[in-house]
Amino acid sequence: MYVCVCNAINCKTVRKAAEGGAKSISGVFKHAGKQPQCGRCFPTMREMIGAGCCNDEPVPAGLIAAAE
Ligand code: FES
Repeated sequence: MYVCVCNAINCKTVRKAAEGGAKSISGVFKHAGKQPQCGRCFPTMREMIGAGCCNDEPVPAGLIAAAE
């Protein structure tokens, strides 16, 4: 699932960033080598990092709905 459509950042990339020590949205973008654009992904990305759901577990339905 794409978390950031502007930069084609998916859940796997967010997970790898978190595993690499990223604890913020800017850390995820830095890990991906991308720059934020519209910001629509910020709430979902923040929630994913904060909830610790950046692992192999399915993304909670509420997050998917929020991203759509
Ligand atoms: S969706 Fe992430 S910057 Fe636009």
